[in-house]
Amino acid sequence: MSVAAKPEVPVREPPGDGLVGQAPPSPAGPIEPQAAAGLPEPPVVDLPGALQVIRFNQRQIEFVFRARRTLGEVFRTRGVVPDGPVITSHPDHIRSLFTAKPEQAPSLTGESPLRPIVGPNSVLTAIGPRHMRQRKLLLPPFHGEAVERYAEMIAGAAEREIDRWPTRTPFALAPRMQAITLDVIMAGVFGIEGRPARGTPERALRTAIRYLLAVSTWPLAQLSELMNLGRDEPVGLTRAALSILDGRTYAVIKKRRSEAGVDERRDILSLLLRAHTEEGELLTDRELRDELLTLVLAGHETTANSLAWTWERLIRTPAAYERLRDAVRSGSQADEQIEAVITEGMRSRPVIPIIGRRVTGPWRLGRYAVPAGTPVAMSILLLHHREDLYPQPFAFRPERWLDRKPGTYEWIPFGGGIRRCLGAALAMAEQRVVLEAMTRRLDLEAEDLAPERATHRNVTMIPTRGARVIVRSRR
Ligand code: HEM
Repeated sequence: MSVAAKPEVPVREPPGDGLVGQAPPSPAGPIEPQAAAGLPEPPVVDLPGALQVIRFNQRQIEFVFRARRTLGEVFRTRGVVPDGPVITSHPDHIRSLFTAKPEQAPSLTGESPLRPIVGPNSVLTAIGPRHMRQRKLLLPPFHGEAVERYAEMIAGAAEREIDRWPTRTPFALAPRMQAITLDVIMAGVFGIEGRPARGTPERALRTAIRYLLAVSTWPLAQLSELMNLGRDEPVGLTRAALSILDGRTYAVIKKRRSEAGVDERRDILSLLLRAHTEEGELLTDRELRDELLTLVLAGHETTANSLAWTWERLIRTPAAYERLRDAVRSGSQADEQIEAVITEGMRSRPVIPIIGRRVTGPWRLGRYAVPAGTPVAMSILLLHHREDLYPQPFAFRPERWLDRKPGTYEWIPFGGGIRRCLGAALAMAEQRVVLEAMTRRLDLEAEDLAPERATHRNVTMIPTRGARVIVRSRR
């Protein structure tokens, strides 16, 4: 009889609860041109380019799931001109792109629809050394500890907003979430807390931002956005709305420059007013405006819609909602339950469903290779719905995350690597505080139990009816 030797280092059992699994390994990363020549290119979605662009923009979910079903986990799309990206959803491929050197796989956000609005030089749109400089400059106020200071302010904004909601009358949650996240972003970015007094530049700015965001949902504005793709300067309706906003942003910058005590203030505008470029120069008003607007646009609707989606899921999953309510109201394991619900909400409905890099040399993606210059997109949506990673991927199961941290390359609603979302800690703090307050104070129901479909706006995926709810009772 042979006795198996005990391993010296205790081996961690893979989680055996069937809630989170592992993907089989798949080699990926930069390769030599000769090696690339020996591998096939990914299969191409067989539809005319123009049709693919329309389908992808209007029904991305159906498009990517169908392509994965018919072609496998790596496929190439066609665009109009130039060709569309290769799309992958394997964690090893994603790891190779997130950990690549910046020059090997620069971000595609330089080509983002926000570029005509925030210019080519903001932290979102710049690439290379300039991007790294901007990021370093902006990181401190977005750091986890710095963000904790905002918890009280977020709670205040949430409580005030909840007080205003009707009982027993259906309403859309997404705009209400936006009201909260706008307050938070105005405070964090501009140092403007609450509702500023009438007639002040701060009040005028807040109104202009709300106006720009409201206008951006009009069909005419969507057309205007299409016209703006690929430009450095905006045209059409976007230009008109922006010129008002710009004037007001510059007025707030000017006022703040002239105020005493900027050194003590901790909002991002004041911090940037003190910041110097590598050459020792202060940032220009234009540079300030580009960064500030980037933060407002990147941080406000994303967080609001992420919360709206989580609620859209939660009120259709009674057992999960019940567990959260019990935990929050009894105070037992509340933090764990809140974290699990947010993590699962962002897994099942990632507000930004796809992100991309452009590989500058030949790149291996499993059994395929793509040539230098190929845009490679990572479908967050497909990754988050892999059966091998997340058994029953379409079920909303926050319990997947109890006692378990999400994997760096398996759960990526904030992207990753050197382009990982700058506002992730702030967005998580906002979601925790708002989810807690709503769970504690309200009993919510879905207006209609059919799940809400997704609408794609710019780079985001939002609930089509705005996550409609009914407040059944209040506490
Ligand atoms: C739930 C809310 C949010 C989601 C889902 C989200 C998601 C993302 C994603 C997917 C990216 C691209 C990452 C990549 O390509 O690897 C990104 C970038 C970025 N986000 Fe967020 N975001 C959220 C909230 C925020 C907030 C609150 C702010 C700031 C106030 C913010 C600021 C930014 C900036 C500046 C970038 C560009 C970073 C860079 O390129 O270096 N985001 N975000």
